[in-house]
Amino acid sequence: MSATSYLLFIGVRPRLEFALDAELDEWGASKKRTRARGGVELRVSRDELWRLAHGLRLAESLRVRIGSAPAHNFDELLGALKKVNLSPWLDRRQVPRVHVAAHRSSLFHTGAIEERLQQALVGRAASDSPEEGPPTAPTRDAADLHVRIVRNVAQFSIEAGGRELFKRGFRKGTVRAPARETLAAAVVRLGLKERPEAVWDPFMGGGTMLLETALRYHFPALPRRFAFERWPTHDDVAYRELLAAGVRSEASAADVPLPLYGCDVAESALRAAAQNLTANAAAIGATFTADRCDFLEFCERVPRGAAVVTNLPWGGRLREGGRGLYRRFGAMVGEAGRFGEVVVLNSSPSFAEATGLRWDICSDLRVGSKRVQILAHRPS
Ligand SMILES: C[S@@+](CC[C@H](N)C(=O)[O-])C[C@H]1O[C@@H](n2cnc3c(N)ncnc32)[C@H](O)[C@@H]1O
Repeated sequence: MSATSYLLFIGVRPRLEFALDAELDEWGASKKRTRARGGVELRVSRDELWRLAHGLRLAESLRVRIGSAPAHNFDELLGALKKVNLSPWLDRRQVPRVHVAAHRSSLFHTGAIEERLQQALVGRAASDSPEEGPPTAPTRDAADLHVRIVRNVAQFSIEAGGRELFKRGFRKGTVRAPARETLAAAVVRLGLKERPEAVWDPFMGGGTMLLETALRYHFPALPRRFAFERWPTHDDVAYRELLAAGVRSEASAADVPLPLYGCDVAESALRAAAQNLTANAAAIGATFTADRCDFLEFCERVPRGAAVVTNLPWGGRLREGGRGLYRRFGAMVGEAGRFGEVVVLNSSPSFAEATGLRWDICSDLRVGSKRVQILAHRPS
């Protein structure tokens, strides 16, 4: 086990900070945390960083804080950058991509700040290796350096997760407007109080909700790369050993595969879900049964007591109009003793009333310009 530790900022969708905190508790992370809007900061060991990268389901970004200093003007800012030791994170010749945010500060033109910092970093790469010709500009796979200036103090962070951290690497088949994995994970985490015996998504699309339900209870090494794997200090042998031993060593072995059921009226959804779920069933600790049909036709095939987890169809995309479908859905899940917990991601104001059921609001979020709610109906 390495003695290296990092001050890590874990970004999350605003209003889900408390849920990320709960996730960190489950991973046994240090209780000394600072919760801010949009994230949680804490100190982690190197191995913890690796485990959390593979295991956290709500995290939108992982950034290591690498320095901070006053920056009232460009001279101060460039001086502050010079003092940051970049060598653990960047090869001598590597020029990172710079991302700037500025609030309540004398330096506020983020485009100009980015340009000046980028120039300075090109200069650094050139002076570190004068014999190798002119330095390159950031390449497509360049590391990401985040500079956040708040009240004239600049904070430098290096990206540890990588762009599009929400992509687990399992979802290869796509449908129109799939749910983002991290949002689906929030639905599962906030909606399901207990691990169900079986799960059904009656409107499964490409199967994101089912995938994330399985990943709530099973922690495979994700088939994707993380930014920290490119750090010059990265110990790939130790990393591979940790993954081989299991991302969450106390879990896994005794896990019983979670039976997942899904249906959808669209052929394209069936194809995508098969690519995402049938192909990955063993890796995500699940079995998968699906068909192309209306949800009421499929209902009989779902075991009694199964949980229902779904991202509801809405608006103009519905052939029969929202209210009719929601009424049928409400009558089905409201049948006494038929299902366990029912959790939905809903963006339609008419849904709850049309079902005639009582729904607990687990969370109220904004996704782009849309208001969405995570709702749960629990058997009495
Ligand atoms: C919001 S999308 C689900 C997206 C999915 N969560 C994903 O990430 O890919 C809703 C899905 O419901 C399906 N659908 C609409 N009416 C249906 C019905 N009556 N029975 C079954 N599926 C239906 C649509 O074809 C669409 O794929």
